[in-house]
Amino acid sequence: MSKRKRDISRRQFLEGTGAVLAAATAAPALKMKLPAANPPAADDVSSGVPTSAIRIVVNGTEHRLDVEDRWTLAELLRDHLGLTGTKIGCDRGECGACTVLLDGKPVYSCSNLAVWADGREVQTVEGLAHGDQLDPLQQAFVEHDGPQCGFCTSGQLMSAKGLLTHNPHPTAHEVQAAMTGNICRCSNYNRYVEAVLAATATKSGAASKGNPGRPTASAKPDSEISTTKSRRIPAASITGAGGAR
Ligand code: FES
Ligand code: FES
Repeated sequence: MSKRKRDISRRQFLEGTGAVLAAATAAPALKMKLPAANPPAADDVSSGVPTSAIRIVVNGTEHRLDVEDRWTLAELLRDHLGLTGTKIGCDRGECGACTVLLDGKPVYSCSNLAVWADGREVQTVEGLAHGDQLDPLQQAFVEHDGPQCGFCTSGQLMSAKGLLTHNPHPTAHEVQAAMTGNICRCSNYNRYVEAVLAATATKSGAASKGNPGRPTASAKPDSEISTTKSRRIPAASITGAGGAR
């Protein structure tokens, strides 16, 4: 290729690039002008959104309500039923923080529409404890220091609950496999697996008499729960009650 030809090509390239940059910077300005020229009517924002009447049982309580067809199950639970123990991490089916049980099976509530839960039963972390009595899984999570920051904990609990419902005596490998869809940014995976295995022992009675040297936790409405190492964890990460959104 001759020098002149290379120069022309470079100039043409720069001119072309400049045109693209100009278009890119002008586009937002154009976009910003459009709403001003043709602003949407205020009522249009929510009107016309399809809704459906559904019946859903959440933690044993029946709800009959109208839901927008675009709501996810996580939105319904958190924003409309006030069950903020279910957390939203990625909001796209990758992290497992939003896991709940749908007819006993763990699902990502961020990736299921609320209308799909019509006529079905949902269990969230708020439905695990019985009054002041923690579920054995919750108890084991506390005693084995499962929660660190606690953000993934409700999802971990629900995946483990789904496993134990169908397989009360899983192996460590089965526990790992069942919870593989729950990411823990604090990387406390081993403690979570230990806790689930301990909960199965508790259920069979082997550990129901308590472990000397391990203080037991309580589901009393304290904001914090003592753990084995005098560390205090937010009770909301275990029970879902009164947790931050
Ligand atoms: S928030 Fe649902 S999978 Fe991450
Ligand atoms: S305990 Fe922090 S993300 Fe799992």
